[in-house]
Amino acid sequence: MDWGLRNRMARMIKPASGHTVMLAVDHGYFMGPTRQLEKPRETITPLLPYCDALALTRGVLRASVDPSVDVPMVLRVSGGASVLKDDLSHEAITTTMEEALRLNVAAVALSVFVGSPHEHESLVNLSKLVDEGERYGMPVLAITAVGKELEKRDARYLSLACRISAELGAHMVKTYYCDGFEKVVESCPVPIVVAGGPRLDTDRDALELVHGAIERGATGVDMGRNIWQSEHPVAKIRAVRSIVHDRATVQEALALFEEGKRTEGKRPPAA
Ligand code: R5P
Repeated sequence: MDWGLRNRMARMIKPASGHTVMLAVDHGYFMGPTRQLEKPRETITPLLPYCDALALTRGVLRASVDPSVDVPMVLRVSGGASVLKDDLSHEAITTTMEEALRLNVAAVALSVFVGSPHEHESLVNLSKLVDEGERYGMPVLAITAVGKELEKRDARYLSLACRISAELGAHMVKTYYCDGFEKVVESCPVPIVVAGGPRLDTDRDALELVHGAIERGATGVDMGRNIWQSEHPVAKIRAVRSIVHDRATVQEALALFEEGKRTEGKRPPAA
């Protein structure tokens, strides 16, 4: 790995802990104005001091993030499908490497759809993006998307998707937490970050997911809805950080969350 690529990785995965809290706000690229992300700047700004990287599209980056911020950006560069269609896997590379360099991002991210109708195209897209990433020192994050077929999220499927992504050269992989998650980590030779998925029933459930993932070898999280759909998003991300970086227990993280709820204001409900 060349110096530039390693430096970009180190900006996201903090060398002090070897872990990362990425904040995902890229949902609009196929879901449109997701609840509590209708006005991206309002959602993102209070959370910026607490994330190690921000995952988003170029549109939201330019429109909703101040260029003076000192947070590494993970730029989503795949798209071309929407929730209105059944097949979410029909994606292409929608943003060039030149644009990623112009935006000075720390990594580019694309979805891979193993087992979906457009599996082949998404895997070829990944390979080509890695070739370009290696040329320019740009890490590539492969997102093992499962589209609408959530039942696929078992260790066997996710191990397959993560390993294929790593074999094709992804420098990091994003996947989902599952029973037997350690098997997914063991068979994937590059760092894994976990998505949160749709908001879980309780805050404890979300913190247990984070704790389980870190205990079983995840490098961090790339989490969205379970943070910014919370009534107390700042308290929530701080609780997540305590697990990821300080190895807090779920109980300790919950106590921090409760304390944060008392001291930080509650966000207004979505209109
Ligand atoms: C969705 O397409 C994106 O990849 C999200 O960044 C990812 O799902 C993480 O966000 P959440 O924790 O809300 O699932």
